[in-house]
Amino acid sequence: MKIKNICCIGAGYVGGPTMAVIAHKCPDIKVTIVDLNAQRIADWNDENTDNLPVYEPGLDEIVKSARGKNLFFSTDVEKAIDEAEMIFISVNTPTKTYGLGKGMAADLKYIELCARQIAAVAKNDKIVVEKSTLPVRTAEAIKNILDNTGNGVEFQILSNPEFLAEGTAIDDLLAPDRVLIGGDTDAKGQEAIEALVDVYANWIAKDKILTTNVWSSELSKLTANAFLAQRVSSINAMSELCEKTGADVNEVARAIGMDSRIGPKFLKSSVGFGGSCFQKDILNLVYIAKSYGLNEVADYWEQVIIMNDHQKRRFAANIVKTLYNTVSGKKIAFLGWAFKKDTNDTRESAAIYVADDLLFEQANIAVYDPKVEEQTIFRDLDYLATRTPDENRESVTVVNNPYEACKDAHAIAILTEWDEFKNYDWDKIYANMKKPAFVFDGRNVLDAEEMRSKGFVFTAIGK
Ligand code: NAD
Ligand code: UDX
Repeated sequence: MKIKNICCIGAGYVGGPTMAVIAHKCPDIKVTIVDLNAQRIADWNDENTDNLPVYEPGLDEIVKSARGKNLFFSTDVEKAIDEAEMIFISVNTPTKTYGLGKGMAADLKYIELCARQIAAVAKNDKIVVEKSTLPVRTAEAIKNILDNTGNGVEFQILSNPEFLAEGTAIDDLLAPDRVLIGGDTDAKGQEAIEALVDVYANWIAKDKILTTNVWSSELSKLTANAFLAQRVSSINAMSELCEKTGADVNEVARAIGMDSRIGPKFLKSSVGFGGSCFQKDILNLVYIAKSYGLNEVADYWEQVIIMNDHQKRRFAANIVKTLYNTVSGKKIAFLGWAFKKDTNDTRESAAIYVADDLLFEQANIAVYDPKVEEQTIFRDLDYLATRTPDENRESVTVVNNPYEACKDAHAIAILTEWDEFKNYDWDKIYANMKKPAFVFDGRNVLDAEEMRSKGFVFTAIGK
């Protein structure tokens, strides 16, 4: 079966870039991305690609190349479903904030809504592709809804988890390590798998397109994120030990990373991992393990989160301790708010939690981030509900100039590893700060010796 018409439900960080790349690489396929959020769709359609709702290096060019030709953004969900032979579900699957599994399980209400809408609209056979990250065996629930509420048409469910990382999404999509497609093992399932393989084969070598059964595919996504996050928590655990023993975490990371069995990637010690995926997916994994009575498995993975929370908290506590046990009324400059460089995404960013801890200590915080907007920063803080929106605005200011953020500050905290931080005029920053001028590098981006030679009291993670 040759796919000519694709619909993707959900125009977010995954739906937008993945579908833009499919459209860019497959000029014969019409790709329509739909979303309930009309503003988001309007932003994707904005003539000025600086206003796209997702910032990713290279994304604007890809969108420009295909938009209006074979790539469309729309709010007309039903029409797009009706026209498509293949429908990707790429909606959000956040951690549940209510009821059973609150704070752990993935909230599948948006997924279920999509399934019900597809079932209601579909008048001919469809392949439904899970692009969202889902608990293992979700395909069963989707199939159930489709078969019981549909118009008697046939549905094949595939799992095609997305492994892109934010900030490098376009490179990851153009040249992925692998593409994973899970489907039913019977003839019809295999046919559906082949249809999706053919789409990716437009630009990806066949030996990088892995096919499995649905459950392996669903579980592989949670497993991949758990392993990656575990590496960060492992090196962060060692960073604390390095600080006590005179070892340097970068040297330790290099030494172990040269062991080909360990490998050098994902060994950067930091103020803690953030992002919309790691914590959510591990909590989900823990919940699934518990629901099968696998308590040791659940405890094992939960420790990755416990370690990460500790890393964020001890970074804030160290600032307070170093500043003579009080930051009350002191200006602390935050360089970076995004959860990693090259993205405007701030979901679960360590900066939010470090700020919260320092606000408890009555600090005044001035934030500068090259890509994150003021309203996002206040939305993140207000969402915590630890203090009123007015209180947040009294203690936090957001500025669009790093030198202004650092002026008269008692301390600077680096929360994101933006490249530009390395190129600042640090002598000028030093001259305008209160003395002693403290810098807490939560990302190990600056050279400790150089910073100290300029006069800063410099603290880095794991050194
Ligand atoms: P997102 O919040 O950026 O986007 C989801 C979009 O879906 C939103 O715009 C929302 O309005 C829309 N939506 C929700 N319900 C809808 C409905 N019924 N009809 C139409 N639109 C609807 O989320 P995201 O970051 O793109 O993540 C999507 C999924 O992909 C999640 O399961 C996530 O775990 C997974 N994932 C994310 C990343 C990442 O880096 N962000 C990477 C891999 C996988
Ligand atoms: C992650 C997975 O990498 C990706 O495959 C999946 O599809 C979605 O989740 P993402 O969250 O976008 O991607 O970014 P990632 O590069 O994995 O970083 C996650 C967090 O870990 C960031 O806060 C990052 O700063 C931190 N990190 C990463 C470290 O602290 N040290 C490292 O060595 C690597």
